[in-house]
Amino acid sequence: MTDTKKTAQLSLNGETYELPIFSPTTGPDVLDIRKLYGQAGVFTYDPGFTSTASCDSTITYIDGGKGELLHRGYPIDQLASKSHHLEVCYLLLYGELPTAAQLEDFETRVTRHTMVHEQMHNFFRGFRRDAHPMATLVGVVGAMSAFYHDSTDINDPWQREVAAIRLIAKLPTIAAMAYKYSIGQPFVYPRNDLDYAANFLHMCFSVPAEEYHVDPILARAMDRIFILHADHEQNASTSTVRLASSSGANPFACIAAGIACLWGPAHGGANQACLEMLKEIGSVDRIPEFIERAKDKNDPFRLMGFGHRVYKNTDPRATVLKQSADEVLELLGVENNPLLQVAKELEQTALNDEYFIEKKLFPNVDFYSGIILEAMGFPTSMFTPIFALSRTVGWISQWKEMIADPQNKIGRPRQLYLGETARDYIDIESR
Ligand code: ACO
Repeated sequence: MTDTKKTAQLSLNGETYELPIFSPTTGPDVLDIRKLYGQAGVFTYDPGFTSTASCDSTITYIDGGKGELLHRGYPIDQLASKSHHLEVCYLLLYGELPTAAQLEDFETRVTRHTMVHEQMHNFFRGFRRDAHPMATLVGVVGAMSAFYHDSTDINDPWQREVAAIRLIAKLPTIAAMAYKYSIGQPFVYPRNDLDYAANFLHMCFSVPAEEYHVDPILARAMDRIFILHADHEQNASTSTVRLASSSGANPFACIAAGIACLWGPAHGGANQACLEMLKEIGSVDRIPEFIERAKDKNDPFRLMGFGHRVYKNTDPRATVLKQSADEVLELLGVENNPLLQVAKELEQTALNDEYFIEKKLFPNVDFYSGIILEAMGFPTSMFTPIFALSRTVGWISQWKEMIADPQNKIGRPRQLYLGETARDYIDIESR
């Protein structure tokens, strides 16, 4: 953040107030309103934070107009094609791409933490079998602070580091356990000879009764999904993690809060909602009916997997995933998958429709991820847990950045109060 020496003037009730302007390394300038209430006695009003920067950060940059996503300056399409998830985790956490030795050390540290405390197996058994895996995930990740309280002191940099590694390492194990539990199969222990994505597929799809071979192309597609969801600036769940952590809450509690927020259909739950929508549409000839419904102000229906608060041009993650969808379906011999046909036709119809053009609504990351995940054998209920495990590194990186920031203070927005003014209590018999 650079102090530009530029200021904006705010005129209010005959007084003029100078608001400093900061310049980011890239992106729009930012007005500093921190002293506004103290000086002028007014708040700013911005529900949904559409014009508010809640923090400064050096991790991820999005140019919504250009459809650009950078992690520590590296474009997402380059990371998706040349890197792998654990290397991206290192980049997000520590700011630079690792050397070979640094990567080996990091991978070893993550791999050594993939198992969960054995007593957690008992904890799982307290959930109903038919619980949504996201419900289980929120509960179990929150419970990590009960199992790993030796890494909950946020003022100790070493404990923060251990908590970060534990979360990145154990989330795939916990997500896979939530899945196995929901289908009544035994938990599968992690295998440290497999890479991060292959190990996740192994924990989800192998059973003790027979040998399971992880297809490297599927593992690569899984890894790419992890990379594409790894971080996304100050989105709703990341802001939730930051707000929860601003009170000094422990990292496991904060990540559980992020997972809870991610679950909503306007955020991470959209991948499940999108696939359900594609199934409901069912065939190409029904697309016009659903497009009309999406445009109808009196119908709450929205095209799931379409639109984004920040991207007003292509979501670069959707572009990579569309290509992955083709590759994975071809590998699995289901390139004529009817859902993919519906998705492609729906995308084309919407992109040529005046309503979607005018409102700058494009497919987002969730539009194609569900098709890939379903082709791999995941039920829709696992889509959002997979998003959560991928995003864990983003949440943790933002959390670490925030804790280390000397400006860190408790998040406490104000409000535009529209309720009653002070009035006297009325006894019950007089109401
Ligand atoms: N289908 C139809 N119309 C839409 C859609 C959609 N998917 N998305 C936005 N619109 C319309 C709105 O009705 C609104 O119209 P209006 O101006 O006439 O009132 C206009 O576009 C702007 O929409 P907002 O909801 O104000 O935009 P906002 O930035 O708040 O919301 C959001 C973004 C939540 C992603 C929205 O586009 C949406 O609900 N999309 C579907 C759900 C989805 O795919 N979510 C995943 C997001 S990506 C992620 O979290 C990984």
